[in-house]
Amino acid sequence: MSATTRVRPKLYEAQKLAIWYFVVAIALFGLQLTFGLIAAYQQLNPEFWFEVAPFMTNRTLHVNTMVVWLLVGLVGGVYWFLPQETGREVVGIKAAKIIWWVIVAGVLVLAGIYLFVQYGPGEMSTLWLFMEGREYLEAPRWVDLALVLWVAIFLYNVIATTLASRRITGTLMVLIFDLVALGALYSAGMHYSINLTMDQFLWWWVVHLWVEATWEVLVGVLMAWSLMYLLGTPRKVVETWLFLEVALVFGTGILGLGHHYFWIGTPEYWLGLGGFFSAMEPLPLVAMVVHALYDAGGHRLMAVNKPAVFWLITQAFGNFIGAGVWGFMQTLPQINMYSHGTQLAAAHGHLAFFGAYLSTVLMLAYIVAQNAREHIQVPLDSRWWKWAAGLMIFGIFGITGAFTISGFTQTLIERAEGGSTWAAFIRAYTHPWYANTLGWRYFFGWVVLTGYLILVYDLWTIGKKAVTHARAAVAAVGGGDD
Ligand code: HEM
Ligand code: HEM
Ligand SMILES: [Fe+2]
Repeated sequence: MSATTRVRPKLYEAQKLAIWYFVVAIALFGLQLTFGLIAAYQQLNPEFWFEVAPFMTNRTLHVNTMVVWLLVGLVGGVYWFLPQETGREVVGIKAAKIIWWVIVAGVLVLAGIYLFVQYGPGEMSTLWLFMEGREYLEAPRWVDLALVLWVAIFLYNVIATTLASRRITGTLMVLIFDLVALGALYSAGMHYSINLTMDQFLWWWVVHLWVEATWEVLVGVLMAWSLMYLLGTPRKVVETWLFLEVALVFGTGILGLGHHYFWIGTPEYWLGLGGFFSAMEPLPLVAMVVHALYDAGGHRLMAVNKPAVFWLITQAFGNFIGAGVWGFMQTLPQINMYSHGTQLAAAHGHLAFFGAYLSTVLMLAYIVAQNAREHIQVPLDSRWWKWAAGLMIFGIFGITGAFTISGFTQTLIERAEGGSTWAAFIRAYTHPWYANTLGWRYFFGWVVLTGYLILVYDLWTIGKKAVTHARAAVAAVGGGDD
């Protein structure tokens, strides 16, 4: 048996559950892309399906499925690594399984509500049953409660498993601290006020503090485990970096929240506070690039799981470019005054979510794929993962480029030059730099979707092929009995 092929220990129940997490995540990813493509087509041809599922419905489904599948992937990653980190089965695995299927059923019902019900009377019953109406957090209150229960059981399982193992590592401490914040912040999104400023003020606690603080730290934890697993980086090294990154993420990201408080009716001091702290938010992202390159370089990329290492490096750069560079571009109040709410935000949103979170989840998916098949762990490589990654990255840069150009046109023509008048609005939206990009993003959407289909095929087959090859190799040298 070769040095890198070894017998894999039996999977824990939590890891079997994690496999389901990834199956569902990748399926929802496909739905996300489908709704994104329909939304992009409707921007070209607004009549299309106007009576069936209008643009706002598809857009809502596009961003909601995104949040759900990425979060499912990240939680799945923790369920995958937790038994390895603690050396035991997850405490409360039964509850974890039950709530998981409740969440899956809830998400399906919710998609049906968005598609077929959409509206209700302007009463509390609509908020509880159908829709809350805040972007990204449109889900009705019953779904909110189910999600909080899901995170609560997850948090309990992490804490109880850690305590039962009596092996409290630095990474686990960071994880527990982070999950408390993640669950608590979600409840801020359930605060309801007819005062729009108050409503937006707390809504951002979820939207910004999730993706720029608690999710970022959760990814740091998963990266720490993945680096140890994929490259054998010593725990001391990854944990030292993790502590530094956590300090920088929270140190800059909490008050960086102020970059969303410039124009919503909050006091003026947020201009200075938000501008200053959010401008420093790229710092931890630079640290993460240095960290990943330092570790990967030390091993000259001699990885046993090439696609996972590829997505790990893509994550480091993608997070920095999508969140750090595209975010920084529009974060100073002097610039944001003109660019706020243009498609520059959508450009940044696509590249940041792709770089920071999609890349992480795909890295984890390949780690799981390496171990999900047989009782044997083999080096993972294929021709197809490169096509999948290449097409998806090319496509998302195309979409981001298109949104950036149209956002720039809005900023320049509609805002800076035209002073936000109705005539300036028309001039910007009919300008070729705006109008042409609608077609480009639709085209690049198909490129991403093609990459996705190859990804699904690859994830399905890559482990199987590797195992078959390993068996053949073992048979050739006449050794091994597994
Ligand atoms: C992974 C991390 C990040 C993700 C996923 C992310 C995602 C997003 C998304 C989706 C929006 C649009 C929100 C809306 O619908 O109104 C947004 C807005 C914004 N983001 Fe980020 N972001 C991240 C990190 C950052 C960082 C590090 C910075 C600053 C350096 C930043 C600066 C901004 C600004 C200034 C806006 C508001 C744009 C406007 O006024 O229209 N973001 N972000
Ligand atoms: C098939 C590929 C895709 C297409 C065609 C597509 C298209 C679109 C369209 C048309 C919108 C609405 C923009 C608007 O309101 O004017 C949108 C919003 C958004 N999409 Fe995509 N998208 C795709 C893939 C993705 C991926 C892979 C991600 C993230 C991983 C993503 C994240 C987002 C986000 C965060 C928003 C909201 C942006 C904001 O509020 O500023 N999309 N997308
Ligand atoms: Fe933000």
